[in-house]
Amino acid sequence: MTSEHSAEATSAASAGLSRRGLLALGGGIGLAVGATAGGVVGTAASKSTNRASDPRYSFFGEHQSGITTPAQDRLHFAAFDVRDGATVAELIALLQEWTSAATRLMMGLEVSEKGAFGGGAYLPPDDTGEAADLGTAGLTITFGFGRSLFRTTDGADRFGLAALLPSDFSELPTMVNDFLRPELSGGDLCIQACANDPQVAVHAVRNLTRIAIGRATLRWSQLGFGRTSSTSTTQQTPRNLFGQKDGTNNIKAEEADRLRQNVWITQGPPGIVGGSYLIARRIAMNIEVWDGVQLQEQNRVLGRDKKTGAPLSGGGEFTAPDFSAHDSSGMPLIDPRSHVSRAHPDNNNGIAMLRRGYNYVDGNDGTGRLDAGLFFIAFVNQPARFATVHTNMARDDMFAEYLKTTSSSVFLVPAGVLEDEYIGQALFEA
Ligand code: HEM
Repeated sequence: MTSEHSAEATSAASAGLSRRGLLALGGGIGLAVGATAGGVVGTAASKSTNRASDPRYSFFGEHQSGITTPAQDRLHFAAFDVRDGATVAELIALLQEWTSAATRLMMGLEVSEKGAFGGGAYLPPDDTGEAADLGTAGLTITFGFGRSLFRTTDGADRFGLAALLPSDFSELPTMVNDFLRPELSGGDLCIQACANDPQVAVHAVRNLTRIAIGRATLRWSQLGFGRTSSTSTTQQTPRNLFGQKDGTNNIKAEEADRLRQNVWITQGPPGIVGGSYLIARRIAMNIEVWDGVQLQEQNRVLGRDKKTGAPLSGGGEFTAPDFSAHDSSGMPLIDPRSHVSRAHPDNNNGIAMLRRGYNYVDGNDGTGRLDAGLFFIAFVNQPARFATVHTNMARDDMFAEYLKTTSSSVFLVPAGVLEDEYIGQALFEA
């Protein structure tokens, strides 16, 4: 991290956020109002950073960053509960401070001007310090609101947002293989921090959690490594823990029409239009069983060739699958119960989603099996559309016998904001 940016920028965040302060912060690095969040606004600012070429993304724009931003290598995801009895003023103050801190962190700055080392010997530092010298690492911070922030399950309207609860904001139906742990699911607020360095992502969540003290507490969190999707045509398709190329037919940043049709919310009050719904599911993968399955069967279960990623109907990785293609004995080349067949838009009324998940390994169980899987994240414009695909999958997908879902959540990701606004501001002023 570097402290060479403008004094206006640093004082805005250390003093808490004000409209003028945020404008100064944006102005200090020459961000244009209306720029697309997640757009590259530079590279890591200081010669002292380890990776001077890391991209620096803007926090501000029409949409939040961390959705169409080329998926980074690492994830720290966190969900929070707002303190019982907290007032709307306290919630707004928290969102203002989070906006200010996120802006600074994505610029490669510490959370305040005094930061990790400048607050004096007799005070705990404002910033925890472990990301000093690591640069931006391409950090993006994406905020989401749980349904309970609008209205709790027993109907309480804690923050005057109940009237704004979008009718589309549904929870997901229970699926086959759901073994959900409530303490690892849901929450009033969420933060998705993605970066190319795990320490930068963890530092962001850790410091935003500190800022929330007294107003919101960490409910659950998840670390992820190794992106399992591509969100830009500039990226190579990565592999998941089953060894498969994952993200081939994902929606990419360059596909404006598919994004408009499937990802961005287009109806509703200001602050929601331009947003999206984030689906997060922690899916344990039975990798020891999978590793004993013949390669041919692994291909059949997915519907794609494990090595090349090409559909079993032929062609290369990016050839469209042909679900009507048969072999000489009349058998379909892509099994109708394969994952690709069950999940493909052609078999789901055209519905697609932007996937942005990560691998995880959280130690092992008492029988020596890895607690490993996919922390699945998808962005969609309606949770019900996701549920349509998922239900179709859960009904018949041959993948299902290798999977067990332990956590499931839906968050509304508000639209992006301008440089003088805090995240979700339009909702509180509606
Ligand atoms: C551990 C669980 C999962 C694994 C290992 C996995 C893996 C894969 C792989 C390897 C592909 C093919 C390459 C690609 O187009 O990206 C794929 C495609 C896809 N998956 Fe999954 N997936 C999992 C869970 C899910 C879930 C829960 C959903 C939600 C409904 C989902 C939705 C999709 C979709 C929509 C596609 C694209 C299908 C197409 O257009 O061809 N996946 N997945």
